[in-house]
Amino acid sequence: MSDEPRDLKRADLTYDEYLQVPGLLNLQRQLSNPPHHDEMLFIIIHQTYELWFRLVLHELENARQYMMNAEILRARHFVHRVVEIFKVAVQQIHVLETMEPYEFLAFRKELMPASGFQSVQFREVEFLCGMKDDRYLSYFRHNQDVVTRLTKRKEEVSVRDAFYMALRASGMKVPENVDLQHLGDDTDAREAVLQSLLPLYQQRPTHLGLNLLAESLVSLDQYLGLWREHHVRVVERVIGFKRGTGGSAGVGYLKSTVSKKAFPLLWELRSVLERPE
Ligand code: HEM
Repeated sequence: MSDEPRDLKRADLTYDEYLQVPGLLNLQRQLSNPPHHDEMLFIIIHQTYELWFRLVLHELENARQYMMNAEILRARHFVHRVVEIFKVAVQQIHVLETMEPYEFLAFRKELMPASGFQSVQFREVEFLCGMKDDRYLSYFRHNQDVVTRLTKRKEEVSVRDAFYMALRASGMKVPENVDLQHLGDDTDAREAVLQSLLPLYQQRPTHLGLNLLAESLVSLDQYLGLWREHHVRVVERVIGFKRGTGGSAGVGYLKSTVSKKAFPLLWELRSVLERPE
């Protein structure tokens, strides 16, 4: 509350003033003329996602800080909150299934060449989690503000980095100087990291907080992945295999993103875990 404008701290403060409701309700600018009924749905659903993404960034920054401070259960609390937000986000996309293809076609050309592909906050969420793909930076090269924001996200400690820092701080022997993002085909290095992570599960009582955090991070990957899957299904339902307004192959491109993970090693670990003796 400390950075709220001074004139908002008053005894007669109202709901509308505090939440800036009139301003919020003035942000739905329909481009179809006369306005197409479903364009309001299309705008509001995207706007609510952008608000959720804003909160997700806010919460993940907090979780990252707690991991860097080795306050594991607090970190887990905020990752868990983000997981709950993504559960809502997954459900929310289904509201769009009530928009039939023929209705969308009535105003689709109005929003070209705008596309969800240009959601900077979505890219920030990916980068902050650890999924830092330079190709998206070059996509935004004509917008210096966006390049600056994404470059900052690219250079800062990600939630994934912070998680591995927390593991090392707790005494786990996770190899130093291993770029987990680029282990790629180096199977020996990959195997060494996987082996170092086994105590998270095999010695759960010793590492209980980190075990719970790891499971929440897997959930984060799972629900972000589910959002991608449900989004691509809705896209196929509404526009079929047409190209996207952002110029991509549409469904084909989106399907290629579904398997993206911020914590691939935590997923791989499941394949090497053995039943306790
Ligand atoms: C009828 C509804 C929708 C259609 C037809 C649609 C279509 C598409 C298509 C074709 C793409 C690929 C990029 C392109 O070429 O444009 C895309 C990307 C994307 N859309 Fe949607 N979309 C819809 C709803 C939404 C909603 C509600 C959101 C919420 C924020 C959203 C967020 C995104 C994001 C973040 C991407 C980038 C995904 C990535 O690159 O991994 N879309 N969308």
